[in-house]
This record gives sequence, structure tokens and C-alpha cells, in this order.
Amino acid sequence: MKTKEKLPYLNGWYIVEWSKNLKHGEVRPLTLFGKEVVLCKSDKGEINLFDAFCPHLGAHLGIVGVMNGENLVCPFHDWEFNEAGKCVKIPYTDRLQKQANLVKWPVQVKNGIIFVYYHDQKEKPNFDVPRWKEFEGKKGWSRQIKRTVVNKAFLQDVVENAVDMGHFHPIHKFDEIPTITKLEFKGHTYKVVFNSPKKILGKLMDVELEIFYQGPGFAIASMEFPIHFKLITSITPIDEFHLAHHFTFVFKKSWNPLFDLIVQSFAVRKAMKDYTFDIDIWANKVYLTNPKLCFGEGPIIKVRNWLKQFEPKKQELKSKKAA
Ligand code: FES
Ligand SMILES: [Fe+2]
Repeated sequence: MKTKEKLPYLNGWYIVEWSKNLKHGEVRPLTLFGKEVVLCKSDKGEINLFDAFCPHLGAHLGIVGVMNGENLVCPFHDWEFNEAGKCVKIPYTDRLQKQANLVKWPVQVKNGIIFVYYHDQKEKPNFDVPRWKEFEGKKGWSRQIKRTVVNKAFLQDVVENAVDMGHFHPIHKFDEIPTITKLEFKGHTYKVVFNSPKKILGKLMDVELEIFYQGPGFAIASMEFPIHFKLITSITPIDEFHLAHHFTFVFKKSWNPLFDLIVQSFAVRKAMKDYTFDIDIWANKVYLTNPKLCFGEGPIIKVRNWLKQFEPKKQELKSKKAA
């Protein structure tokens, strides 16, 4: 079966924005997983994400909402909601409307990045976002370099791309087809390490890249040679066909800051250019549920099987009934 129709959203943590990019007192409308939501930061710096529409009479809090200290205010009738989404003030009555609460999404700020947890049944997260010290401005590592690209793609296609060794030569112009040296699935994580011989100063050398997925929404990629860097790469569904792809790079510093700047700017430009080669393929391909793979492409199926744990429960029930 082939499908260009929608694929299910997958449960997990996803990147929304870098926390520094959201000002204190800012209220911002966003679309995530096909839903209108509102992202806000209080005066004290607490970050929250709620469903966008006011439970009173439906005003869009992302468009008209404002912060008043720690509360989000809907200016249509000036009702106020606290950081838990609870209605705490109605200016023209003391009798609060107890049912009028905003739907709050689980949010974590780690590594200077705002993560939101999506679950189709609104269940609590069953894993945490890790903290990586290299991204926290520690000595020896560069500041974060951030990029966002919005494109048309299925998340499922992007996640399996990391183990699709056959595409690295024709699409990313790798000198040779890389070899997977490690492929490990553990609960909500999967790690792939691959070796790709590259011509450096005329000599063919082994270059190793590790990609470590933490649920379907983000991964940390690490390389030590020829450039020592780490990259948090994340894919956040905007709607059924569009993803916001966020990239956060950090580089190991050398003794020479000028040399570092040149290397970092070259590496980021190269990585972003490499990424654009996938975009046209993803935007126009179909997702085959029964692809005709060849010898050596088993990891693609392994990744698809791993992804099944994040599929919506509703979907599981429907398919069980149909069976
Ligand atoms: S619609 Fe929001 S306070 Fe009335
Ligand atoms: Fe790719």
C-alpha cells in the first residue's frame, strides 16, 4: 500500500523554540500537531503552552492574549489564567467559573531549548528530555548555533533517513556508501553509528557519526573527526504534512578562536546544504507501508518497528478491531 495521505502523529517530546528567543511577558500563537496553541513566558520566566482558545467565549489567546505577571489574560473579557491554566480572576464577579481552565501541555526547558510533550490521549510523559552539558555554555564548547527550516515531509521519513545508508552517496554525495557499525534499540531510544570513508587532503579516512534518537521527536548527533561537534536535531509536526526542523549545533573549541569561527561557519553551512538535498525527495515522495527493500536495508524496518511504540492508542484499537 502506498500513501500520500496523512500518517499519525507520534507521541513524544518535541522542540518548540529556544528559550532565549521567547521574551519575558511574550505571548505567541503557534500551530503544533494541527492544533492552535499559545506559547507564553511569564515575568518570572516560567514557560507554558496551552490550547489557544479561551474556554469562556473562544477568543484566540495567542493573538489577543497578554501576560500580567504570572497570569495569561484574555482581553476579550479580561479573565485571567494562572501558570496551571486555572481561571483565577473574572473582573466582574467573585464567583470563579471552575470549569473554565486552559488545556496545558507538558513543557520542559533543557539545554536552553523548550520541549513540549505530545500524546494523543494526553497521557503523562513516560520519559524525560536529557540534559547535555555541552549545550549549556560550558568551558570548551562554543555557543549554540541555531537554524530552523520548515518543510513538507512526514516525520516517519525523516527518522528512518538516518539508517538509509543507500541514499548517502547519491543524495548527500558521500564518497562511499557508509557502513552501520552499531544499531541499538532500547525502550524509547535508538542509536545508530555509521562509518563513512571520506577523502580528506587526498587521503581516504574513516569518519564516524553517531545519531541517538530520544523518542521520535529529536536526536543528538555527534562527530569527533574531522570536526568535533554535537547537534540536537529535531522534527516537530506543524500539521499532517509540514514539519519544523530545528538544528542546534555546538562545537568543541580549539586554541584558535578565529580558526573555530571559520570551521563552525563552514560546517553549519555544509550541514544545512546537505539537508536541503533530502527536502525535495521528502516533499514529493509517498510513504510505502510495504516497501520493496534489498539486502542490507533491514535497519529501515527495525526503525519502523521501533517507531510503532509511539503511535496513537486510538489507531491501535482501530486496527485491532479491523483484524
Ligand atoms: S473569551 Fe476570553 S475572557 Fe471572554
Ligand atoms: Fe538524508
